[in-house]
Amino acid sequence: MNAAIEKSPAYWLPFTANRDFRKKPRVISGASGHYYTTVGGAKLYDTFSGLWTSGLGHCHPKIVEAVQQQVAKLDYCMGFQVTNDRALELAERVTGMAPKALTHCFFTNSGSESVDTALKIALGYHRARGEGNRTRLIGRERAYHGVNFGGMSVGGIVPNRKVFSANLIPGVDHIRHTHDLEHNAFTRGLPAWGAHLADDLERLCGLHDGSNIAAVIVEPVAGSTGVLPPPVGYLERLREICDRHGILLIFDEVIAAFGRLAKPFGAQRFGVTPDIITTAKGLTNGVMPMGAVLVRDDIYDAFMQGPEYMIELFHGYTYSGHPVAASAGLATMQVYDDEGTFEQAAALEQHFEDLLHSFADHKHVIDVRNFGLMGCIEMAPRDGAPGARGAEVHKKCFWEENLVVRNGMDGLQFSPFLNSDPDEMTRSFETIRRVIDTIE
Ligand SMILES: Cc1ncc(COP(=O)(O)O)c(C=O)c1O
Repeated sequence: MNAAIEKSPAYWLPFTANRDFRKKPRVISGASGHYYTTVGGAKLYDTFSGLWTSGLGHCHPKIVEAVQQQVAKLDYCMGFQVTNDRALELAERVTGMAPKALTHCFFTNSGSESVDTALKIALGYHRARGEGNRTRLIGRERAYHGVNFGGMSVGGIVPNRKVFSANLIPGVDHIRHTHDLEHNAFTRGLPAWGAHLADDLERLCGLHDGSNIAAVIVEPVAGSTGVLPPPVGYLERLREICDRHGILLIFDEVIAAFGRLAKPFGAQRFGVTPDIITTAKGLTNGVMPMGAVLVRDDIYDAFMQGPEYMIELFHGYTYSGHPVAASAGLATMQVYDDEGTFEQAAALEQHFEDLLHSFADHKHVIDVRNFGLMGCIEMAPRDGAPGARGAEVHKKCFWEENLVVRNGMDGLQFSPFLNSDPDEMTRSFETIRRVIDTIE
């Protein structure tokens, strides 16, 4: 690749330190299985399986083949008033894997769109039932629900919100996050302490009256903020409070769904059924942009009133149910089944946990957290330069060790392939240790 283009400023990279990036661009041009290839020809092991997306590995031949065939057969068709066979099939397939109560599926193109769709469905549902006063939405501190205005407003990651502070949607509150180093540092799996933090929802019900609240949205395991597994009993308690006040519970499973927690959905891992689930990422193994929102039967039914010729929900995207994306989704679900991917993921959990927690003794490390195949090694911020240590690890791993490691500030986040080779996993953590040893 032409080096001038590599450094050209035309492309404004998302969630990236663009000026630093231009000095020495990290550009990938190929992938296969668990490895990327850079434009310079280096082969890098991917510890993040895409961006929590590609649990089956990159360029899985079955998915590639399905996409190739579909794009030559039906590239696109309108998705309003008409649909395509693949979208119908995928909706059946995905609801068939979901908790029984969730019977309908609305397609989007991303996690952010899934979240905003879910919030709109929640508001529309209450209005359709004559409870139009239920307009308040509750998120959680430190949550990540994407970058659109709805998701950003219920989200709780400060840098994502602060520039837009005056423009966030109104009527939103947040319950406390569940992270507490004093009680929970270095917990393996779900922390024993903290179920009572769900009672913060009761406080907001007291403040606004629960009858004014439409929905609460949480990630069952907070991901992008640095992997915060819910305390034991916490999600159950949220469910109880929602039931008591008639509030819809939305699980944002953009990361958690499709095997990351060794089940089709995180809800099944926790045994807690929400009213709405948002997904994306693992829906197509990251191969095509696609998301889905799953809802309970009676939520769908509540919209089905008025003249039958009339649209019930004035919402949708040009690419909702895109046939090529849906074919990638169908192939992905088939591979999950054929290869026993969720069982493979379950079998890797203990090894992954042991590797992560082997960092507990490192002088830079202040916490290690994990659940399923989600993990975070949190390093102390360097004095006066929060985030610098994490960025340094990322770059050193990339350039010197042929390893892609994701950092969120000083937290090193891990999302291993659902079909990882345990030895490769071990080697990647040995490398990371070596790198952390060398940095200040
Ligand atoms: C829980 C959650 N919700 C929403 C999103 C946003 O998804 P997207 O980047 O596809 O819009 C993400 C992305 O990581 C996520 O983790």
